[in-house]
Amino acid sequence: MANAVNIGVLVSGNGSNLQAIIDRIEDGTIPARITCVISNNAGAYGLQRAEKHGIPAVHMDHRIFSGRESYDTAMVEALKQYDVNLVVLAGFMRIITPVFLDAFPLAVMNIHPALLPSFPGIHAQRQALDYGVKFTGCTTHFVDAGTDTGPIIMQSVVPVLPDDTEESLSARIQIEEHRVFPESVRLFVEGRLTVDGRRVIVS
Ligand code: GRF
Repeated sequence: MANAVNIGVLVSGNGSNLQAIIDRIEDGTIPARITCVISNNAGAYGLQRAEKHGIPAVHMDHRIFSGRESYDTAMVEALKQYDVNLVVLAGFMRIITPVFLDAFPLAVMNIHPALLPSFPGIHAQRQALDYGVKFTGCTTHFVDAGTDTGPIIMQSVVPVLPDDTEESLSARIQIEEHRVFPESVRLFVEGRLTVDGRRVIVS
């Protein structure tokens, strides 16, 4: 049996992906626990979701720090206090620095609402609509120093329909996010992910 995985989840908003992971932990699918949920945004609904499930919910206001590095240093300290060994970015709308990545090598996971490497960065769904692709989806990946460039863990495809709006497309993608993100976390927790250069091998 591998060492227990303690997950720290960072959110900035609604936290529906956080909820999907909580649900899969509570139903026994993911053999791990979330030891803290941290948000840069006091009003993030994700913090309330954590509290409802008895998970420590922490607001860390980035505005009181002098820069990204000092914020990330404090964030790493907080995550270490909660014994975190997997960091899950679930709609965390801040760029993280090497200070953060060096503290959790190959142990920071993100979900992006497009089929990377297409449409990185913000407004991925709008980018897909504007480009006119017929299919898009979501991608889970390990985080590296770039924006949405890290090794890909899982992807899921959804169609783009002729009358789609950003909202309708986002909703279709989120159904897949809520399946693929907990599954990626489960694979990590079970020690089944190995990174070989850009490739993530699932055993
Ligand atoms: C998701 O669309 C995810 O792909 C992106 O941020 C959004 C977070 O949604 N990274 P939620 O807060 O989990 O509902």
